[in-house]
Amino acid sequence: MDGLFSGKGFSGNIKITQKEFLQLRDIIYELSGIFLNDNRKFLIENRFAPRLSELKLNSYSEYINYLKNHSKGKTEELAMLTELITTNETSFFRDNPQLKVFRNYTLKKMIDEGNKTGRREIKIWSAGCSSGEEPYTLAIILHEALKEDIRKWRIRITANDISTNVLKMAEKGIYTKYSLRTTPIPIISKYFSEKDNNIYQIKPEVKRLIKFGKINLNQDRSVKMVPRSHIVFCRNVIIYFDKDMKRKVLSGFHNNLLDNGHLYVGHSESLHAVTDKFKPRQHAGTITYHKI
Ligand SMILES: C[S@@+](CC[C@H](N)C(=O)[O-])C[C@H]1O[C@@H](n2cnc3c(N)ncnc32)[C@H](O)[C@@H]1O
Repeated sequence: MDGLFSGKGFSGNIKITQKEFLQLRDIIYELSGIFLNDNRKFLIENRFAPRLSELKLNSYSEYINYLKNHSKGKTEELAMLTELITTNETSFFRDNPQLKVFRNYTLKKMIDEGNKTGRREIKIWSAGCSSGEEPYTLAIILHEALKEDIRKWRIRITANDISTNVLKMAEKGIYTKYSLRTTPIPIISKYFSEKDNNIYQIKPEVKRLIKFGKINLNQDRSVKMVPRSHIVFCRNVIIYFDKDMKRKVLSGFHNNLLDNGHLYVGHSESLHAVTDKFKPRQHAGTITYHKI
């Protein structure tokens, strides 16, 4: 499987020319900030073939024309394009070493401070939350860390994505065993109700900590409306962006974070040579970034 862009579409027989590829790439970039390298032609052909066939179009030029000039193309089709171009790969308890650092370092610090000062509030932003596995995992970790005391805390996890389809799945909170493949069994028993055929539903006490909503990280005005956070999780998202878009998004996180806020990115993502607005801190198995 192609790690970066996998899982959607099938191989079609309409080939995209270099000119069409560059035009479509610009449309995708302007829309989402997602940048496609030159070697991604096959990805486009693979993912868009069924769509071109549904629309009864014979070439990518016709599709680009539809996107630019047709009333439906400029609205509904751009939403459809977003669904085709995003990669939504995720799972519960993804990157456990990093989550341990979150629990034992960031969260511990916040809980100790909250108990000392009486200001018991934790606000987290999960940016690019896909179908909800990441924010639900964070909510479970909060339950595990605070136990009965969770009632004394004001907790809000804001979870956003650009894709409407994954947000619908997140709202439902129903998952297959595959999504839970790295989740400890006692956690599954405690926070999910098992339905038929290895289908699991997240329990309401976890769900109530999260507010899902659609946000495009490429739109400053939507980003500015996200409630300010103590911690931002944006894992396995900026890997799809070019340097300019990374800078823009990271600057949005910097503005969103409260003083001394923490940022978590994916283990293969780095802020090195992109921004100096955050101070890195090395832990066993992960780096955390701190608002300067
Ligand atoms: C690979 S998933 C990562 C999910 C989760 N954070 C994790 O690490 O498991 C990347 C997500 O980023 C979302 N995304 C991509 N571009 C975005 C944008 N401009 N604004 C908001 N979300 C975006 C995609 O729709 C996708 O669901």
